[in-house]
Amino acid sequence: MNSTKKVIIDCDPGIDDSLALMLALDSPELEIAGITVVCGNVPTKLGCENVLKVLNLYGREDVPVYRGEEKPLSRMLVTAQDTHGMDGLGETGYEVPDDFSVNEGAVDFLIETLKTSQDISIIALGPLTNIACALKKCPEAFKNLKMLVTMGGSYKSHGNCSPVAEFNYWVDPEAAGFVYENLKRPIHMVGLDVTRKIVLTPDLISLICRFDDRKSWFVTEITKFYVDFHWNQEQILGCVINDPLAVAYFIDPSLCEGIDAYTAVETEGMCAGQTVVDAYGFWKKTPNAKVLTETDTKAFMTMFLNRLFPGRASVISKQLDTIYPSFCKVNGGGCR
Ligand code: RIB
Ligand code: CA
Repeated sequence: MNSTKKVIIDCDPGIDDSLALMLALDSPELEIAGITVVCGNVPTKLGCENVLKVLNLYGREDVPVYRGEEKPLSRMLVTAQDTHGMDGLGETGYEVPDDFSVNEGAVDFLIETLKTSQDISIIALGPLTNIACALKKCPEAFKNLKMLVTMGGSYKSHGNCSPVAEFNYWVDPEAAGFVYENLKRPIHMVGLDVTRKIVLTPDLISLICRFDDRKSWFVTEITKFYVDFHWNQEQILGCVINDPLAVAYFIDPSLCEGIDAYTAVETEGMCAGQTVVDAYGFWKKTPNAKVLTETDTKAFMTMFLNRLFPGRASVISKQLDTIYPSFCKVNGGGCR
């Protein structure tokens, strides 16, 4: 196996964050240095509790958790508890494990870990408030950062919090804008253009349910609320699981394609949170981000399902072939 990739996961769990944490915990390539929690989908305290619930499911009390910023840099926190439930986990009511603990000081953990590590990356699954605070406090620590993979923004896709803004960057546009402008390290933007293609459909959820183990029960339970929200909000059957794609892409970049472009985040007015991607170089500025534009949904689902539910490759492959039939155009259409 290739050498492991050292990573800090910054998140705001959140249902899809929790699924992303599961994928990370089931991926031997990742050495998770720590999990930092940021305000976003839910207040930070609830986010910390939800991280503990996922770690408890895996018996991974060894992974340190750090509580981060309670509010955006300069705005009031607007949560997404309408989407993720008041508890941030689909109102499933799982107990907070009392034998796991949360540390204070996510920003200092980010700084100290960056200072003392080589070749470490950050996967950010929520608003960039913690990252921005660490970058403001100790910019020199970030010279060791290999890359930032951030689920957020959108290039050509419509927003999910306004016509043009995606939630993570809409919650704290000042943080996102500061990071994009000042990080000076590789940023990989896993935006709605690609994550909207990652839909956990009813077929896939019922397949997961058939696996009938603690992880499958957890996934099917926490996604119920999310599926209802997606139907009521956008008449989507199933639920868009944004965050796991960021983890999957970090593990295997071949899952997505994208463009290198200078990208800025609007912080004023009705378009606040919008990512403005200068794909054609109008501003003649050096590209600061790789903006993902395409993804292979079937390949993602293959990785996601086989890693969460090992030993079921043939049934997973058979079902994915049914759900994502590979069409071939041979001499005017039709398949042989
Ligand atoms: O816009 C989707 C993103 O916002 C996801 O990371 C979701 O968890 C929320 O944080
Ligand atoms: Ca998130």
